Amino acid sequence: MAIFMRAKLQRVKELYTTGGASEVGRGIKDFIYYRFFNRTDVDYHGERVDNHERWEYIEPEVSDAGSVIDIGCAEGFFTRRAAATGAFSLGIDYKESRVQRARERADNIDGCGFVKWDINSANVTKLPEVDVILFMTVHHHWEKASGLDTAEWMFQVVMDRCDVLVYEPPGDRPLLKNENGLLDPADSMEYYTGRLEALYGDAIDIRRAQMFEHTKEFKNERGDPVFIIDTTGFELDESATGSPDP
Ligand SMILES: C[S@@+](CC[C@H](N)C(=O)[O-])C[C@H]1O[C@@H](n2cnc3c(N)ncnc32)[C@H](O)[C@@H]1O
Repeated sequence: MAIFMRAKLQRVKELYTTGGASEVGRGIKDFIYYRFFNRTDVDYHGERVDNHERWEYIEPEVSDAGSVIDIGCAEGFFTRRAAATGAFSLGIDYKESRVQRARERADNIDGCGFVKWDINSANVTKLPEVDVILFMTVHHHWEKASGLDTAEWMFQVVMDRCDVLVYEPPGDRPLLKNENGLLDPADSMEYYTGRLEALYGDAIDIRRAQMFEHTKEFKNERGDPVFIIDTTGFELDESATGSPDP
């Protein structure tokens, strides 16, 4: 409860920092729509209370980058900030309403663009190579849509397409076959570090990792680890050309 209340206060502060009183008003409107009118197309980045904190953590990776892709960019908070550092920055999301909002908010930013695209196992290899990929709280969406093995193969394609991966897995549940239980966010750093090391060993280098507390789309408390991963040593198995699921 304490985290929840703190998160709400943080959220108001974050909304105010982002866009002043009008942004706070929009956040309150979204909250009411979500809670009482069952609307689900609310503003994701209006709800996350840790956008600025996460950006401060990520910025050193992006500030020298020439090119950045933000997979599952929602309303483009990070895509815009990456472009503002001078990088070419492309946000991708499959939700029309989110891409629309992202485009409206990036009106005057050079080198910033958004693509509406549903990334799946049939098209993920079309991702171009860039310096940095932001892949934050998307892995479990892929797992839900395609199964763990396919989602993991897609994750490998993503690692292959960048030198630095900013990876945020869901801190409240495990990504693991045949295991559907909830994960205590307090254990998620250890869980995901172990998972990455077991799957990829020396092929990747986890340079930094930190927990970020937030709430889960107007609901419960949550904390996610964010990993900064050097993926230059990772090589994609080119013989695997699609879904590894049987
Ligand atoms: C939980 S939000 C995370 C937003 C942002 N990355 C962040 O961490 O603040 C996940 C986003 O990924 C998008 N998404 C999920 N699956 C996708 C897919 N297969 N292709 C493109 N976008 C996807 C969703 O529409 C949503 O906006």
